[in-house]
Amino acid sequence: MTQLAEIKVENALESHRYARGWHCLGDADQYRDGKPHTLDIFGTRLVAFATSDGKINILDAFCPHMGADLSHGTVEDDRVVCPFHHWKYDAGGKCVEVPYCKRIPPKAKTKKWLTCEENNLLFVWNNPEGNPPREGVVIPHLPEMDSDEWIHEWNIDIMRIDTNPRELVDNLVDAHHFGPVHGTPTSYFSNIFEGHIGHQIFRGDSEHLGGGLAADSAYYGPATHFTRINSNFGGVEVHAILLNSHVPVTPNSFDLRFGCMVKRVAGMSDEQTRQIALDYVVGNRNSFYQDVIIWKNKIRIDKPVLAETDGPVYQLREWYQQFFMNEDQVPASMAERREIVTVALSKP
Ligand code: FES
Ligand SMILES: [Fe+2]
Repeated sequence: MTQLAEIKVENALESHRYARGWHCLGDADQYRDGKPHTLDIFGTRLVAFATSDGKINILDAFCPHMGADLSHGTVEDDRVVCPFHHWKYDAGGKCVEVPYCKRIPPKAKTKKWLTCEENNLLFVWNNPEGNPPREGVVIPHLPEMDSDEWIHEWNIDIMRIDTNPRELVDNLVDAHHFGPVHGTPTSYFSNIFEGHIGHQIFRGDSEHLGGGLAADSAYYGPATHFTRINSNFGGVEVHAILLNSHVPVTPNSFDLRFGCMVKRVAGMSDEQTRQIALDYVVGNRNSFYQDVIIWKNKIRIDKPVLAETDGPVYQLREWYQQFFMNEDQVPASMAERREIVTVALSKP
C-alpha cells in the first residue's frame, strides 16, 4: 500500500481529530525555491509554495477538477499549476485560469491554510472547527533572533515517528526519565500550565553535555516546544535554544523536527564557535534520540500507574486534551496558572 493509501485507510478507521494549534514546518526559506512542496500532514496532502512577495502559501493539494496533486505541478507567476490539465490556482486557492476555457467554474477552489513565519520558521494553523487562532495564541518571537550574539541557524533534523504524538508531549512532565535515559539526574523539576502554554523548569547534570545543566522550556500549543538551555560543554559555557516540534501525519505517526541554535562564544573565532555549535547540536541530538528509541518501542498507556513523585502526568494530559476539544468546551480552569514542583533538591 502506498503511504497515501495508508493515510486514507487510517483516517477512515478512526474518527479522529488533529490538535488545534500552530505546527512547525521547519526553516521557512526552504520553501522559497520556486517549486511546490508536498506536505503529508493532518491525514491529508497539502501543497506549500512561495509567491514573489516572499510569502509562503499552503493549500489543499488535490485539484477539485479531477483530483491530481498540485504539489506535483509547477509554480508560475505566483500560481500553482496542476500537472494534469494545467488549471492555475492563486495564493488564496482560487482557480484563476483554465487554459482551454474562458469561464472558470465557481467551485474551482481549494482550501487555503493559515500560515505564519516566526524565528525564521514556517508554521501552519490547524483547527478542525475552522476558526483562526484566538488572541494571544501565537508562537513567541525569540529576542535572540534579533541579537548578533547568536548564530541564527536551527540545524534541523526531521524524522518520522510511528506513534501517537502524546508520547512526545508526556516528556514535558517526566522528571524521572532524565537519569535513566539521558544520564542527567534531576535536582529541580517543575511545570507550570497556563492557557495554551506548558512550561518545564529543569536543573540537573549531564554526562553527555559534560556538566551542570539548566533548561527552561515551554510548549506553545500542542506541538511546538522551545527550550533555553545553558550547560558546560567541554569546559565552555554554551547557551542554546532547542526546537522540538512535530506535525501529525496520521493519528499514529508524526514528523518530528529537532533543531538547535547556539550563542557565539566570547573569545572564539566564528570558525571555532561554529564547530562548538555543531558538536553541541550533535550532543543534544544524541541525547534526544535516546527518547526517540523509547517512543518507537513503547505502547500507549492511557492510565499510567504512578509513584508519588512521578510528575503531573494526568495534569499534563488534561492540558493537552484542550487542543482536541471544541474551543467553547475547554474548561475555564485551563486559563488559570497551575504550578507543580516535582523535584526540589536544589533551587530553580
Ligand atoms: S485535475 Fe487539476 S487541472 Fe485537471
Ligand atoms: Fe527526554
